[in-house]
Amino acid sequence: MTRFCTALLFLASFATLNLTGCAGEDGGDDVDAILALNGVVASGATVYDAQCKVCHGADGAGGGSFPSLVAMVPGQGDEEIVSIVLEGEAAMPEFRSKLSDQEVADLLAYLRETFK
Ligand code: HEC
Repeated sequence: MTRFCTALLFLASFATLNLTGCAGEDGGDDVDAILALNGVVASGATVYDAQCKVCHGADGAGGGSFPSLVAMVPGQGDEEIVSIVLEGEAAMPEFRSKLSDQEVADLLAYLRETFK
C-alpha cells in the first residue's frame, strides 16, 4: 500500500512539473509563430464577432468595465495584443485554449484594420 501511494505521488508530481514546464516554454514561441502568419481580415471579423463582441462591443467601444479597443488598440504593439489575447489579463479571459494560431493572426489583422 505504501509503495503504491509513493508511486502515485511520484507520478502526480511528475505530471504537474511536466505541464508547468510546457506552459512556460511555449509562451514567447506562440507569439512569434502567430506574428509570422498572414492574418486574413475577413476571417478575423468572424472570430471577433464570436469571441470578443460580447464584452468589447460590435464597434469595439467597450463600456462599463470593458475597455474601448477603439481607444487602446492603436497605441498597442502587435506582441502586446497577441499576448493579452493568448493569456488574458484580469477580467479578460485567455483564448489560447479556444483559438488556433491562425485565428489569432486573423484577429490581429482585423483589429489593426478596424481600429487605427
Ligand atoms: C469576458 C469579457 C471579455 C472578452 C470575451 C474579451 N475581452 Fe478583451 N478585455 C476584457 C477586459 C475586462 C479587459 C481589461 C483587462 C484589464 O483590466 O487589464 C480587456 C482587455 C483587452 C485588451 C487590452 C486593452 C487595454 O486596456 O490595454 C485587448 C487588446 C482586448 N481585451 C482584446 C480582446 C479580443 C481581441 C477579444 C476576443 C478574442 C477579447 N478581448 C475578448 C474583457 C473581455
